[in-house]
Amino acid sequence: MNVGLKTQILPAGEAAVAAAARALSEGGLVAFPTETVYGLGADASNPAAIARLYQAKGRPAFNPLIAHVGDIAAARRIARFDTAAMALAEAFWPGPLTLVLPKTEDCAVADLATAGLDTVAVRIPAHPVARDILREFGGPVVAPSANISGHVSPTAAAHVQSDLAGRIDLIVDGGAVEVGVESTIVGCIDAPMLLRPGGLPRAEIERVLGRALVQPAPDAESDNGQPLAPGMLASHYAPRARVRLNAVAIEPGEALLAFGLGAISGIDAASHVMNLSERGDLDEAAANLFGHLRALDAKGARTIAVMPIPDEGLGEAINDRLRRAAVGRE
Ligand code: TXA
Ligand code: MG
Repeated sequence: MNVGLKTQILPAGEAAVAAAARALSEGGLVAFPTETVYGLGADASNPAAIARLYQAKGRPAFNPLIAHVGDIAAARRIARFDTAAMALAEAFWPGPLTLVLPKTEDCAVADLATAGLDTVAVRIPAHPVARDILREFGGPVVAPSANISGHVSPTAAAHVQSDLAGRIDLIVDGGAVEVGVESTIVGCIDAPMLLRPGGLPRAEIERVLGRALVQPAPDAESDNGQPLAPGMLASHYAPRARVRLNAVAIEPGEALLAFGLGAISGIDAASHVMNLSERGDLDEAAANLFGHLRALDAKGARTIAVMPIPDEGLGEAINDRLRRAAVGRE
């Protein structure tokens, strides 16, 4: 374990981008902002760097990583696009969409990063700092969310620091992210399938495809017996506190994660109250979700009661993450 490393923190800018590209080319681990959440990057073609990355996160090696690239030409060097995949790439990249596609013959992404699958997850992020780092580095960068495996994803550099300081080489601080939940993952192996709801709402994807996304069966497995989106195992996005969903009343001492300004009984007895979006805006709620969960956790909340959140737009991703946070704790 590489605990004890000196983790450098640099504000986003030219010097940070140069340092990030240099560290990546030397096999280092670099956390950087994307528009969804902070990622922990490693050179996708360097198995030793990828092994360090799994170790730093405490992530099981059967859970494959997303390869981040700068443009569609680079994406096509590692993955094969059918018509639907190309339509989605052209409509939504750069942006909060990841495509799972067949690997090309000479795919530069190491087998360790794809967990031995013959598919690869690819994304072109929209954040200017991520794009600058990818351009300067020049190759694909695998980047899971920059948190300890099992924690909620980081939406600010301070979250990365509290999870991974001493385990990684560099954190590029680009401020708070914009979207706040991870990318939507669509598999384009057969008919396009929603593998993970995320920062790009389902309805926008279905509008471009002209058809509904296929929904994986609850316990779907790929040909070789691995879960279709291995990271989507239950209880993935967990704060320390117990999470209670769809709360319509507060028990004394519970913390409240509110949404909108609707009334809820027992609020005077709540230990802490945070609101995802007072005006009931789901985009704002997504941007606040992981930070608010971390903040309530840090205040020592034993139970976080969460008000109901509508399941439309980014609400689908918010509810997905909240259900995972609640697994085994309800
Ligand atoms: O927004 C995001 O997607 C962020 C930023 C940093 O880009 N990244 C992220 O990565 O959320 P991570 O590692 O936390 O989640 C990647 C998900 C996992 O659930 C993994 O199982 C799935 O993608 N995945 C990766 N490769 C796959 C493949 N070949 N087939 C199916 N699922 C795959
Ligand atoms: Mg993650």
